[in-house]
Amino acid sequence: MCGIIGYIGKDNSVNHLIEGLRALEYRGYDSAGIAFFDTKQKLNTVKAAGRLANVEAMMQITPESHCGIGHTRWATHGAPDDINAHPHGTPSLRLVHNGIVENYAALKEELTALGYTFESETDTEVAAKLLDYYYVKEKLTARAAIERMTSRLVGSWALGILFADDPGTVWAARQGSPLIIGKGENEHYIASDITAILSRTRDYYQLDEGEIAKVTRSSAEIWKDSKPVNKELKVAHWDIEAAERGGYPHFMIKEINEEPTAIRTTLHSRIKDGLPDFSGDGFDTSVLGEISRMHIIACGTAMHAGLVAKGLLNSLAKLPCEVEIASEFRYNDPIVGKGDLVLIISQSGETADSLAALRLAKKKGAATLAIVNVIGSSIAREADSVLYTMAGPEIAVASTKAYSVQTALLYLLSVEAGLVRGRLSREDAAKRVSELYNRAPEAVAEMIAREKEIETVANKISGCEDLFFIGRGADYHLAAEGSLKLKEISYIHSEAYAAGELKHGTISLVTPGVPVVALCTVPDLYEKMVSNIRETKARGAETFMICGADTEVAEGTADHIIRLPEISPELAFLPEVCALQLFAYHAAAARGCDIDKPRNLAKSVTVE
Ligand code: AGP
Repeated sequence: MCGIIGYIGKDNSVNHLIEGLRALEYRGYDSAGIAFFDTKQKLNTVKAAGRLANVEAMMQITPESHCGIGHTRWATHGAPDDINAHPHGTPSLRLVHNGIVENYAALKEELTALGYTFESETDTEVAAKLLDYYYVKEKLTARAAIERMTSRLVGSWALGILFADDPGTVWAARQGSPLIIGKGENEHYIASDITAILSRTRDYYQLDEGEIAKVTRSSAEIWKDSKPVNKELKVAHWDIEAAERGGYPHFMIKEINEEPTAIRTTLHSRIKDGLPDFSGDGFDTSVLGEISRMHIIACGTAMHAGLVAKGLLNSLAKLPCEVEIASEFRYNDPIVGKGDLVLIISQSGETADSLAALRLAKKKGAATLAIVNVIGSSIAREADSVLYTMAGPEIAVASTKAYSVQTALLYLLSVEAGLVRGRLSREDAAKRVSELYNRAPEAVAEMIAREKEIETVANKISGCEDLFFIGRGADYHLAAEGSLKLKEISYIHSEAYAAGELKHGTISLVTPGVPVVALCTVPDLYEKMVSNIRETKARGAETFMICGADTEVAEGTADHIIRLPEISPELAFLPEVCALQLFAYHAAAARGCDIDKPRNLAKSVTVE
């Protein structure tokens, strides 16, 4: 996610801005910029794609300044380049933004009709020019203009604003994205989080939803709905490390907690009138009606998301699917070509095997689509079309929120495929889309709220060295992801197995005390799963069952049961994978493992 810093006070503002943005680099970014008043009270902007050092390099000497704002950008609309970098604005103002303006296209049309022109592809520039309209054309006061502008926005924002005719003030506004006001000696700051200013002050005011702040050297005034708000001055006791994780002990658990918001943010702009709408992505979904098969290619967790997609595309769209490991696809002389659609799934967009598979598919004449989390990454740039997930930066090596948003987006794409291929009625599709957007994120949040319960269960297996995940149908695909999560962060060896296949050999490894995690969320397969659990219990296994909220579980079926929150079985994968992620997380925590940076692993495997 983006980072915001602002400063006004006795010191040099440019130094504070650069220092603050450097402290926010952990959030991940692809461009940066600052705006500041110089000694002649002129408003200057310096911004560049790439690292913060590129911004510093554009200023041979540090300009004299006492008031400014700064930004590190995690691209969501528009490539990470100099023009799309923040700040954005007009001769009358500069603005930096963290969040997403979902209705920016309509506002851009309105402003264009009013004579505004745009140089960037960003939603932020639209917000800046909308503010200019109210401040310059409508001649509202600064606060009234901000109130009016933000009342027109749909989405999330943390804003830092400078008005050219008021060099002694930094304005801030917050809705959906965090923002604080730091208080120093005869100086004030604004920041996305405390890490940006911790080296300068621990005293801060927390801006809450809908609040607007006016910050000068000596004062910080806050309003909500045009009424002044009194704020308690807080003191941050975190160290820098803890602050970067937002107070969570690890990035992984922070990112699991971000899943409900990440799912909504990824879906929101792709649902129109209750049905899927990928027009904003420039992806013509009619291709889903023309192809006879979809090839899904990825690695690791992304490949497991592809397995879920295969099941959904088969059931909702009757679209045959192959899911292939990228490193295998490349060397199997794959039978793909004109008329085929190849979907590459990748969080980083830089995985070497997946990028090579994409290039091979293109060389063979297949159409290519990518689902990627990092804007402007290689896979995103080289695929014919790209659907960006909007999970924000995923810092922990173990992928969690990326899988959740990938599978949520793939569910929406499967519904679209069902509509295009005439397999789903509009009513049926709308019902599914509504549950995906409204209920699924809530169910994930409810699962997260039961973390303690899962921790208790995870502690029962943290001492073991071998464990099985078994499942049938969609649960078999979830078993694969649950097993990978546990292995990669707790170093417990585990295996995901098709439950019906266990008896064909591997059950010989099930001996007294071996934990078996049985995923039982598919109603039609529940009885079969119960039989498989019995098979393992008969050999002394310690059995763990994950099932639906109202599944009737006979006494003694499993030793431990985790029930999912209420949700249709078809969407169970979202709270279910959250439970599996928390299970792995707490097993690893109990073993004292380095959860965010597991041994031997890299976040993005850019080598073969
Ligand atoms: C998952 O937790 C791992 N970090 C790994 O399997 C990862 O999913 C895989 O390397 C693919 O990465 P990508 O999504 O960035 O392409």
